Amino acid sequence: MSYSADNERYSKGANYRRCGRSGIVLPEISLGLWHNFGGVDRLENGQAMLRYAFDQGMTHFDLANNYGPPPGSAEENFGVIFKKDFLPYRDELIISTKAGYLMWPGPYGEWGSRKYLLASLDQSLKRMGLDYVDIFYSHRPDPNTPLEETMMALDHAVRSGKALYAGISNYPAELTKKASAILKDLGTPCLIHQPKYSMLERWVEKGLLETAAEEGIGVIAFSPLAQGLLTDRYLDGIPEDSRAAKSWGYLREDQVLPTIEKARKLNMIAQERGQSLAQMAIAWLLKDQRVTSVLIGASSVEQLSDNLAATKNLSFSDAELAKIESILQD
Ligand SMILES: NC(=O)c1ccc[n+]([C@@H]2O[C@H](COP(=O)([O-])OP(=O)(O)OC[C@H]3O[C@@H](n4cnc5c(N)ncnc54)[C@H](OP(=O)(O)O)[C@@H]3O)[C@@H](O)[C@H]2O)c1
Repeated sequence: MSYSADNERYSKGANYRRCGRSGIVLPEISLGLWHNFGGVDRLENGQAMLRYAFDQGMTHFDLANNYGPPPGSAEENFGVIFKKDFLPYRDELIISTKAGYLMWPGPYGEWGSRKYLLASLDQSLKRMGLDYVDIFYSHRPDPNTPLEETMMALDHAVRSGKALYAGISNYPAELTKKASAILKDLGTPCLIHQPKYSMLERWVEKGLLETAAEEGIGVIAFSPLAQGLLTDRYLDGIPEDSRAAKSWGYLREDQVLPTIEKARKLNMIAQERGQSLAQMAIAWLLKDQRVTSVLIGASSVEQLSDNLAATKNLSFSDAELAKIESILQD
C-alpha cells in the first residue's frame, strides 16, 4: 500500500527542543534503527514503525554504518523504505548516520581516520539512496588518530555537502571540549553529542551534560530504556521474542537478571504516576532541559505508541524523585 503522511502530523502533540545553540530543533523522542531494521528483521514491520513515527511528528531517524545485522543492512532497508515512502518528505526529516565501528577488513575499516570516515559516509549515502545526511557522527573516539584529523574529516563532510551538521558520540567530557574547540575553529560547530544515558547508565551526569550546555552542543540520549530493561518486557522473565532472547541482539540474558528487581520496583512508581515503566524512564530523562531528545528503539508500533505518550507527563514530585533515586542506588 502506498503511503501518504498524515496531514495532522504536526498537531498530534509532539514537542521539539532546540539542539544546543543551533538552528535545528529535534523531537523530544527520536527513533533509532540499531535493532529491528536489519537483514534479519521483517522489513514490513520497520516500514510500519517509520510510517507511524513520522505520522506522529517524529522527524528524526538515527542510523549508523554498522546497524543490522549484517552491518549496513539497516541503512539498506531504510533506503528501500525511504524511496517508497519518504522521498516527498526529505526536507521534513533529520536523518543521521555514524562511522567508528568495524565495517570492512583491513586497517582502514574502523575508528576515526579521515580515510575511514569519508569513505564510510559515501558508502552510507549509497546504501540509503540519499544525497546527504543531516548529521554525520564520529561514532566513538579513536585513541590512535589525532583528534584534529577526525574533526577535520567531519568538517570536510559538511563542507562537501554530504552532511549538514557534525556530531560526536561516546566522547567523554574533556575530549568533547577539545573536539568542540577544534570544530568551532574550523567553522563547523559541533551540533550534537550522542551518549548512552538512562536511569541505569548515568556517566553523563558527571560532567558531560555541563560541558555540552557550556559548548552549546545538544544531547541526544541513546538506549534510554537500557535496551528494554527499563520497560515491562522482562518483569516476569525473558520473552521469546525479546532482544535478550535473540542470538544477534546486543542484550544478553545475564544482563537482564540483575535488573529485574529494580525494574519491578520502578514499575510500581510508574503505575502510581499513571505511566508505563518505559514512559517513566523516558520522562525521567526529558525532565532535564539539557537533554534535547531521547533516542529510543522499538520492535513494534505498539511500543512506539506507548513511548510517544511519555511526553504527556514530564514532571516529577520531589518525593517521586527521591523514591526513584533510592531504588537506583540500592
Ligand atoms: N551512539 C551509539 O554508540 C549508540 C549505541 C546504541 C544505540 N544507539 C542509538 O540509540 C537507539 C536506541 O537504542 P536501543 O534500541 O538500545 O534503545 P532503548 O529504547 O533503550 O531499547 C529499545 C528496546 O526496548 C524495548 N522497548 C521499547 N519500547 C518498549 C515499550 N514501550 N514496552 C516494552 N518494551 C519496549 C524493545 O525491546 P524488544 O526488541 O525486546 O521488544 C526495544 O527494542 C539505537 O537505535 C541507535 O540509534 C546509539
